[in-house]
Amino acid sequence: MHFAVIGHPIAHSLSPMLHETWLKAAGLFGCYTMVDVEAEELESLVLQLRTRQLDGINVTIPYKSAIIPFLDRLEPAAARAGAVNTVYWDGDDLVGANTDGTGFARALASRTNAERTLVIGAGGAARGIIPMLPGHVTIMNRTNQTAERVADEFGQHAVAWSRTIDLTPYDVIINTTSVGMAPQIEETPIDLTATTALICDIIYRPTPTRLLREATASGLDTLDGVLMFVLQAAEAFERFTGHKPDIALGEQVIRKQLE
Ligand code: ATR
Repeated sequence: MHFAVIGHPIAHSLSPMLHETWLKAAGLFGCYTMVDVEAEELESLVLQLRTRQLDGINVTIPYKSAIIPFLDRLEPAAARAGAVNTVYWDGDDLVGANTDGTGFARALASRTNAERTLVIGAGGAARGIIPMLPGHVTIMNRTNQTAERVADEFGQHAVAWSRTIDLTPYDVIINTTSVGMAPQIEETPIDLTATTALICDIIYRPTPTRLLREATASGLDTLDGVLMFVLQAAEAFERFTGHKPDIALGEQVIRKQLE
């Protein structure tokens, strides 16, 4: 069995280590590699996939939408998000799935059942997550128009971008932007004042982000991006192999790597 994660740039992916840990634990002899694919190579990569030289791939930035025209069908969550992070075989069909949203929703459900959520960001990651959230979702994005468009599409509400937004109406606040990731590791998207919310960041490198460090310093509960990363990978692994992987083992391997 041969799997790969494709993206550009791809040098720091933790997916190979995680999937290979699970392959080994399941007694499967296989490998999981990283392929740095240039935009003009995407089509030939899919042709190679079609000759079954690869049994499945994960897709990361910037190809989550670009891969869609090359696939035979999409799972409903991938169609809704307009983004694919997992491609697997179902018989002779190449199927696109989006396990980012369900991965995050499962991670969140393990911590709270609160239903008043502020989502910061309206890009591909937010589009995967928003339809999976229970209850009422408010979307805030640097480009306000995008927040409004995404809110309309998913039947939710948008608020104007402001780092001093009133946080009192929310039980859960989720950062889905790249603010907090290199090279912006000392930045945060909002000021955490007057809130008791659970603060979540989908970024897992670094763990914790500055936003989560500030939340902890203010006595707030936090959810970092590691469990979401592990759960989205677990759902991909199940589609690839039919095996349910050990989540705790995966989380342990990734947290150790991020120390
Ligand atoms: P992803 O798939 O990771 O969501 P994306 O689709 O490129 O990537 O979306 C990036 C998100 O981060 C967007 O919501 C973007 O806001 P814009 O729509 O205004 O571009 C947000 N983002 C990126 N850099 C940002 C910054 N410096 N400040 C605020 N938001 C930022």
